[in-house]
Order: sequence, then C-alpha cells, then structure tokens
Amino acid sequence: MNWSAIDWKALERMRAAFLGGTAGHADYWQSESDLASYDATFAQRIGWKWDYVLAELQRRGWQPAPGALMDWGCGSGIAHRAFLDHFGTTTISELWLLDRSALAMRFSERRAREKYGGLKIAAAPHPVPFPIGWGESGQRLGEGNTLLISHVLTELTPEQVESLADFAASFTSVIWVEPGTYEASLTLIAVRERLRGQFNVVAPCTHQAQCGILALGNESHWCHHFATPPPEVFTDGNWAKFGELAGVDLRSLPLSFLVLDKRPVASMPSGATRVIGRPRLYKAHALVLGCEATGVTEKRLMKRHAPDFFRQLKRNECAPLQAWRCEGGDIVEAKPL
Ligand SMILES: C[S@@+](CC[C@H](N)C(=O)[O-])C[C@H]1O[C@@H](n2cnc3c(N)ncnc32)[C@H](O)[C@@H]1O
Repeated sequence: MNWSAIDWKALERMRAAFLGGTAGHADYWQSESDLASYDATFAQRIGWKWDYVLAELQRRGWQPAPGALMDWGCGSGIAHRAFLDHFGTTTISELWLLDRSALAMRFSERRAREKYGGLKIAAAPHPVPFPIGWGESGQRLGEGNTLLISHVLTELTPEQVESLADFAASFTSVIWVEPGTYEASLTLIAVRERLRGQFNVVAPCTHQAQCGILALGNESHWCHHFATPPPEVFTDGNWAKFGELAGVDLRSLPLSFLVLDKRPVASMPSGATRVIGRPRLYKAHALVLGCEATGVTEKRLMKRHAPDFFRQLKRNECAPLQAWRCEGGDIVEAKPL
C-alpha cells in the first residue's frame, strides 16, 4: 500500500462525518483522492469483515447464483472486490454499481476494470432515484441476481432502510454487512423479520424462525461477531497512525451481517448453534451466548467438561458454528461444524 499518497486530512473529515452522524446528509466524496485514501484504510477494514462473512458462506456450502452482481452504495468498491476475489468472476454476468456519488461509481468502476479485465460493468445512470436505482421495475432488476450492501445503514433514514429492504426483496441473494453495533444489528434483525417470509435465511442464523434476540429478556443482546485483522495491522506504524486518527481499536473488527437467499439452503444438524459476540471468560468456566432454533441463550462451559473448546475460546479461535450437547444450562460437549 502506498501510504505516502494518503490524504490524512480527508480521512479526518470523513471520520467526523461518519461519527457525527452527518454522513447521510450530503455526498461527502469530494475527490478521487478521498476515495483512494478511504479505500486504503477504512475500506480495508471493511474488506476483512467481508472476508470473514464470505469464509462462513463457503463453510456453509453457499455459492453465488449465476447472474448479475449489484453493489448498492458501493463507495470505493471494497464489497464487490472482496466478493469477486473470493468467488471469482465466472458466475457473474455483469457487475452493477450504484452510489449516490457519481465520483464513487467512477472510482469503483475503474478499480474493477483494472482488476477484473473482461467483466461487464455498468454504473447506474445519474441522478439515482432512491431506492430502486435504475431500470423500469425493481422486480425484474433483481431476479436471479445477487445484491451486496455494505456499511450504509448509518447514512440512511429508517424509511430509506425499509425501501432498501423492499428493493433487496427483488433479488435472489442478498449479502448485507454492517458494523457490529447494537443499532446496526437491531436494524438488520428488523430487515430479517421483514424479509424472511420471502427468503431462506442463510447466515448468521442456524434456523428460519423469528430472531431469538427479539425474545423477552434478550434486550441487552445484539447479533455481532468479530473478524480477524491481518498481522501487518500490528506491525505497520501507518496502521497505528490510522487507528489513532479514526479512534478505532485495530485489533477488534466487530460486524453484523445477514445473508438471505431464495434458493434452498443446506439444512443444519439439529442443535446447531451460532456463537454470538465474545464469550465471557473466567478461571474455570466461560459464558457463551449461542443462537439456535430454540432461541438465544447464554450457556456455561466448565473448563473440565470441554478443555479443548475452553482453550479455543480463550485464544479467540472458536469456530462460529458449533454442535453442542447441553445438560441444563451447561455445555458438556462441543464440536465445530
Ligand atoms: C460508508 S460508505 C460505504 C461504502 C462501501 N459500501 C463500503 O463498504 O466501503 C457509504 C456509501 O453509501 C453511499 N450512499 C449514502 N446514501 C446513499 C443513497 N441514498 N443512495 C445511494 N448511495 C448512498 C455513500 O455515497 C457512500 O459511498
């Protein structure tokens, strides 16, 4: 990465807009250099979150539907690049880019052309009418195709989120990745509830029922997970500088996500559990929040019952999908799925 080309002032301005909640008010991309600086920093962290989600999809046996791929609110284009790097371009008939910023669409289009020569790419014509994007009918636009949405929630009004969810309903597959905050998670859960009658839920859930976080008593929980940053983040002084400027803990990459598909999904073995958030670790036991068809509950793991699993939890190496045998509130056996 060419750190000398980073416009730190622009990153500071963007950070203020992201954190101040003003990013949704107006287009903040002022120049190509804004996008390049974002792409090398904020977007890289988002890309590692996408890598985490795509790896989980791979483990679950999910594959893209053959058809077009749309990146909605594409910014510098990290979401579709992560997707295409992971799954390749062979099943993708065309890449559709959409953003309220013409500058962002041009930037991400150029990057994609450089990286995936031969891939057909279409940018939405301007001005973009919200939320349908372009085309006569949202229904025809999405059928057979895959929609990617990444880190847009903080810039949309609740009404816009609902419209975007309804727009997403016209696609065959939807992969939506957001920060791992309480607000973003609860919004994605609302989207899941709005759409689950029209889709199969692929991930992060292990079931198709109502989200267990919504059950009485679970108000303090939210569905979030942690991706792993690459080692250079800890050794490169420029990343340290970025971490300080952005006010982020570089070791921690919390995310919330939702993957929906109209095609049949592989069924999970009974008792399959998705670990949520970070376990609470004590000397001889851990408390782990798990989501399964019967609900979201915190279970206790005594170190002596499953020492290997306890060690994995301590090292942050626990597989997100687990098959647990429980006795009451205790996990007595744990196997990664
Ligand atoms: C934080 S950036 C995320 C960019 C990219 N998806 C990523 O994950 O790095 C949010 C993007 O959403 C775009 N955006 C915000 N409101 C929008 C709207 N109403 N319609 C289309 N794009 C919008 C912004 O221009 C910006 O590029």
